[in-house]
Amino acid sequence: MSSTPSAPPWNRRRLPRADDRVFLVTGGNAGIGYFVAEQLSATGATVVLGSRNPAKAEAATAAIRARVPGARLRAVRLDLADLSSLGTTVESLEVERLDAVVHNAGVALDDPPRRETGDGHELMFGTNHLGHFVLTRWLMPLLSAAPAARVVTMGSFAAKSERLDLDDLQSRTDYRPQRAYGRSKLAQMYFGVELDRRLRASGSTVASVVVHPGGALDSLTPARPPVHVRTTGARLSAAPAALLVQGKHAGARPAVRAVLDPAVRGGELWGPRVFGLRGEPRREPVWNHLADASVAARLWEASRDLTDGLGR
Ligand SMILES: NC(=O)c1ccc[n+]([C@@H]2O[C@H](COP(=O)([O-])OP(=O)(O)OC[C@H]3O[C@@H](n4cnc5c(N)ncnc54)[C@H](OP(=O)(O)O)[C@@H]3O)[C@@H](O)[C@H]2O)c1
Repeated sequence: MSSTPSAPPWNRRRLPRADDRVFLVTGGNAGIGYFVAEQLSATGATVVLGSRNPAKAEAATAAIRARVPGARLRAVRLDLADLSSLGTTVESLEVERLDAVVHNAGVALDDPPRRETGDGHELMFGTNHLGHFVLTRWLMPLLSAAPAARVVTMGSFAAKSERLDLDDLQSRTDYRPQRAYGRSKLAQMYFGVELDRRLRASGSTVASVVVHPGGALDSLTPARPPVHVRTTGARLSAAPAALLVQGKHAGARPAVRAVLDPAVRGGELWGPRVFGLRGEPRREPVWNHLADASVAARLWEASRDLTDGLGR
């Protein structure tokens, strides 16, 4: 009796090889994005770090090479807060196809005052959401040229308790930094889910997956000098937090799985297993409010209007 061979169970210590593939990680020079890039590099893929700071990108490249001999790494200049620069960023990739992009870069402000990008958008909404929205538009021909490319959007658990104000997406009338951050992440997650809907409707080979890293602290993250240095004091004082949250190396895992695991499908949401805050990646039901297609569609239209003329 013959049986269809099934993929082996996911094992993050034995990632599938991806020698011929090219992956772009936004904000790959630091934090979770650094670890996404490090882990993807170990598969043999070419990994491109999107970074607004060439010196940081160089430091990250050297740190990855020190751990992954022969890593195929490049860096491109990427500033998501400058929407008109993103076409040039994509040209500088100099690739014929892209197998995945991880929309990881993000800015979070803790305190007022409200700040804007040079384009006049609220800084977190403008960078985290609109930046990746426009970048995706530029990348789509390259993604479509790959056999089965993926767009992986890094959301946040913080977005679970937020709701969008579609009449005040830029927090002009009532600005609270943490809420604006949570809403910017929620906007990104709506984008990821809606993008997959639109790709399916158009018969595209590209899939869009939404992930979140749980709680990921620098103090629980192994050192990667000079990218990340951790003192013994910081490690000891953070130890109790490990019961609840994790380090950025572990926060990277849902995104890495979403890029590599053939069992992951477009439109899915992946996050850490334990209370959504720490542990191995698992598929989560798409949150009720995130599944509201009418909100997602209205956000998409608003984002398109705000970025009219940018992108292909
Ligand atoms: N850490 C957590 O617990 C947590 C929880 C939920 C979601 N997340 C999400 O996970 C992602 C990574 O978080 P993290 O903790 O690793 O943050 P991080 O350590 O602060 O790293 C953020 C990365 O984004 C880059 N970045 C910021 N603004 C940018 C811009 N305008 N253009 C291009 N790159 C830009 C940063 O570049 P520079 O080095 O130049 O600043 C850096 O590489 C973010 O999307 C965040 O919202 C994190």
